[in-house]
Amino acid sequence: MTEVIIVDSPARAGTLVADEIVALVQRRADAVLGLATGSTPLPVYEALRPHAALLRDVRGFALDEYVGLAAGHPESYRSVIEREVIAPLGLDPDRVRVPGDDGGPIETAGERYEADLVAAGGVDLQLLGIGATGHIGFNEPGSSFASRTRVKTLTEQTRRDNARFFDSVDDVPLHCITQGLGTILDARHLVLLAFGAAKAEALAAAVEGPVTSSLPGSAIQLHGHVTVIVDEAAAARLQFAEYYRHAWAHKPSWQGL
Ligand code: GLP
Repeated sequence: MTEVIIVDSPARAGTLVADEIVALVQRRADAVLGLATGSTPLPVYEALRPHAALLRDVRGFALDEYVGLAAGHPESYRSVIEREVIAPLGLDPDRVRVPGDDGGPIETAGERYEADLVAAGGVDLQLLGIGATGHIGFNEPGSSFASRTRVKTLTEQTRRDNARFFDSVDDVPLHCITQGLGTILDARHLVLLAFGAAKAEALAAAVEGPVTSSLPGSAIQLHGHVTVIVDEAAAARLQFAEYYRHAWAHKPSWQGL
């Protein structure tokens, strides 16, 4: 089942996930991390900073990217990953891929990304946030559960949500390239984080609602190893919150996340 851990702060979530990543990298120095952008995963990257020396050989694959921004645009996810992950954690930029960042034609960028993922042996631990539309990566409602990395059109709501990173909503690209739901489900461990009341509805639908492409985050229910970590505000709409708290309080210490 999906394990749900309700924590008292995003910082606590960051520490829990960072500890899991440290344990993974101690088992295999060149582990493959699935990187996410947005504000949600920042506490994880923050908590990893003291462990930067361990992460030198780690490889990374980002979930998604805008299409149509000039190379080096500060809000491109390649730039965001360089600023928030690669630089502070001392990762090797050549070991981190972002969809569409290889300079090849965008029409076939998805296939090349998938091939690189396969060559790397797949993602060991995939970080995920969730958007207000229930999207993971940039898989908007209606995305096929079998989808692979491809170019998509953003919903107007997502463009409005992301307008805060640009001068105006008109500057937010219309298109994106994102790992598909099928790609994400191939990762060996999914870790979905959500903080704040604005995420409560989408989070509850993803974890406890029907499995439907209308709510792409519900795809996580099809995966055998999922850890969802939320703060109290994001947990507010969860029907089985008491059970999640009980299970976490009594979790066998040998299990890890
Ligand atoms: C963006 C990203 C997603 C992210 C989501 C939530 O659209 N493409 O990968 O999970 O928004 O963002 P935030 O974490 O800032 O709330």
